Amino acid sequence: MSTVRCSFVSNLLLKMLMMISIILHSAHCELAAVYVTGKTAVQSTNFTDNVHYTADYAVDGNLYSSSHTHLPDPHPWWRLDLGTPHCLGRITVITRQGCCDQYRFTAALARAGLSPNYAENRPCGSPATRTESTTGATVDFPCDTPRMARYVTLDIDLASPDVTLPILQLAEVMVDEYTSGECTKNSNLAPKFESATFEVLHKNSLVANASPLATEVARSLALCAGYCMEHGQCFSFDYGSGKQCHLHNLNATYIGITPSEGSSVYVVLKFQSK
Ligand SMILES: *[C@@H]1O[C@H](CO)[C@@H](O)[C@H](O)[C@H]1NC(C)=O
Ligand SMILES: *[C@@H]1O[C@H](CO)[C@@H](O)[C@H](O)[C@H]1NC(C)=O
Repeated sequence: MSTVRCSFVSNLLLKMLMMISIILHSAHCELAAVYVTGKTAVQSTNFTDNVHYTADYAVDGNLYSSSHTHLPDPHPWWRLDLGTPHCLGRITVITRQGCCDQYRFTAALARAGLSPNYAENRPCGSPATRTESTTGATVDFPCDTPRMARYVTLDIDLASPDVTLPILQLAEVMVDEYTSGECTKNSNLAPKFESATFEVLHKNSLVANASPLATEVARSLALCAGYCMEHGQCFSFDYGSGKQCHLHNLNATYIGITPSEGSSVYVVLKFQSK
């Protein structure tokens, strides 16, 4: 049995979701290292002098070798493929030691998710600050909401105002995962529904096939809604088959509807009862 509903998620609901995510967050247990040595890593550009500084130097278990992107690079990125999804909790980077006091790591963003395209995955923690970007610095990027991730990336957006010299030089990248099912915990919100599909409707006609901003695996509809809330550009989402949670940037303006007072997210959902 399914019904079509158009609804605005109110700020109150968002606050409830936020509380649930805080409760889930405080219930986290231990983190365990994911063995990354020798896993496949690639990067946007390779710097070469007498050494070919490839991406894999950042996961070779050796602090004295490092990966190094080349200049110019319109958007330097580095990507590690874990091979299978893990419930990620933290990314730790040790920057290159003994070279280049130019705060090159400043504004680097760590992300983790299921997409090989870094732009589609949510960040873990905040961009690296200048003080975190000295040579040989150890920088932690906590993934505030545990999420299933196969890909771990670092990237520097040249448009960021803090960028100094945008080069990724990574001595080592380490990844920690949750091992007590943190990515699969159920929440109590929306217990009546297990899936919701998103359609872009205007005056009862389908106006667009929404292509997702990001895709996550979420245990529940509420967690999917929480992921949308956390993502800066997500205004709508769909959730359903295989626990796939698709985040979309299609908002009320796009659909051509004036949001009501105090509302912030527009969703068109086709609920599927349990
Ligand atoms: C960097 O070098 C590696 C190893 O030689 C190569 O496989 C990869 O394609 C290179 N990456 C780029 C962006 O050129
Ligand atoms: C909503 O979507 C439209 C069309 O894609 C876009 O121009 C507008 O900036 C978006 N509004 C917000 C608040 O993001």
